[in-house]
Amino acid sequence: MSVILTRGRVPRTPHTEFYSEPEVLALEEIHGVMGFSGDWSRKYHYRKYPTQLIREPHRLPLDLRPQPLTPLPLQPWHLRTGRLKAHGDVLSGRLPLVYGTSTFIFAARFERSCPADRFIRNGDGHELWFVQEGRGLLASEYGVLPFRPGQYVVVPKGTTYRVELESEECALLIVESRYPIHFAPHHLNKSGQATLMAPIVETEVETPEFRPARDEDGEFRIWTKHGGGFTTEMSLDHHPFDLIGWEGALYPFTFHTDEQHPLARQIHTAPPTRQTFESGTAPHSGFAVCTFKGQIEGWHPRDVPAPYAHFNVDSDEVMFFSNTSYGARKGLVEPGSFTFHPGSLPHSPHGMAAKRSFAERGKLSDYLAVMLDTFFEPLSVARQALGIADKDYPLSWNRDTQGISAA
Ligand SMILES: [Fe+2]
Repeated sequence: MSVILTRGRVPRTPHTEFYSEPEVLALEEIHGVMGFSGDWSRKYHYRKYPTQLIREPHRLPLDLRPQPLTPLPLQPWHLRTGRLKAHGDVLSGRLPLVYGTSTFIFAARFERSCPADRFIRNGDGHELWFVQEGRGLLASEYGVLPFRPGQYVVVPKGTTYRVELESEECALLIVESRYPIHFAPHHLNKSGQATLMAPIVETEVETPEFRPARDEDGEFRIWTKHGGGFTTEMSLDHHPFDLIGWEGALYPFTFHTDEQHPLARQIHTAPPTRQTFESGTAPHSGFAVCTFKGQIEGWHPRDVPAPYAHFNVDSDEVMFFSNTSYGARKGLVEPGSFTFHPGSLPHSPHGMAAKRSFAERGKLSDYLAVMLDTFFEPLSVARQALGIADKDYPLSWNRDTQGISAA
């Protein structure tokens, strides 16, 4: 994030003597990415280091590693995440959908808040959530962030957090990346500020509301995800939200799709105009995340609003359908549908979809979908997702289904 924040009290000069209260030296910690060269924040703990464990770390039975499938033929996939039953919390309720070498995607439908003395930390990756259903609070050492449907939540790797639900259930699409996740660079100027032509406005993010330091002794458990999906419990002798202040550019934030301001074009727009986030070093690694949000369709008198057949051979493409208004898949997708099109397969509009889409010329659409394209990273379907797979999907382009087409 190019927006540098200061919350609570911090010394003007980093790594200089600073006190939580008279005679109590505040203890500094750096939370940084990319080997002391990327985004970072400095945090000031009240009186204890975040390393003061009260017992030996121990592995938990919770295993979130995606399980490989026996090699299957190359094929497109449709996973119906909207049909999942709620269970667990924001960590244990995760179901692996697809995975690569640096990108892991989960669906989470969960029903419990994290207990007050238990926290989560992802040591494997930076997290990007899309909130499909439910609302709640993401509480971290940086402060409190509310989330609601239609919102993205970005949680940097290593953040200690817990989630308090404010609804009976919550459904998230969770993208995990080994690389930091940030706004698409082509929408930003050299200073990191969104350009005047960008569809995003970086200052429309919501940032954590800082809370007073919890200077409390006791036993507080942190469940850390590591090693690709193992979980280990570590018990601190003090509350982890013990900061008197922090300053920096690495912190959780939210960005609502209402704040994505689509760019219309007289003829069809390609996905990069709809891009919101990026991870890795495009176009060599990582991924692009695009927000397909309703916009004015092309108004050229001969425009074809339906997309063209395409395959980007260097990208595996997944798409999460928040609603069913996306014309290219009407009749096939349901809320929470997740499609996966490997880069080595073309996909296309179905049958007469191109001709039918003429009726949409110049009209405002109301679809909402999230697309992720990897760069040079093949994805595989996790065995755990087979139970929600649409077995008929590979032949869906050949079905006599009025209105069905491909993105
Ligand atoms: Fe596509």
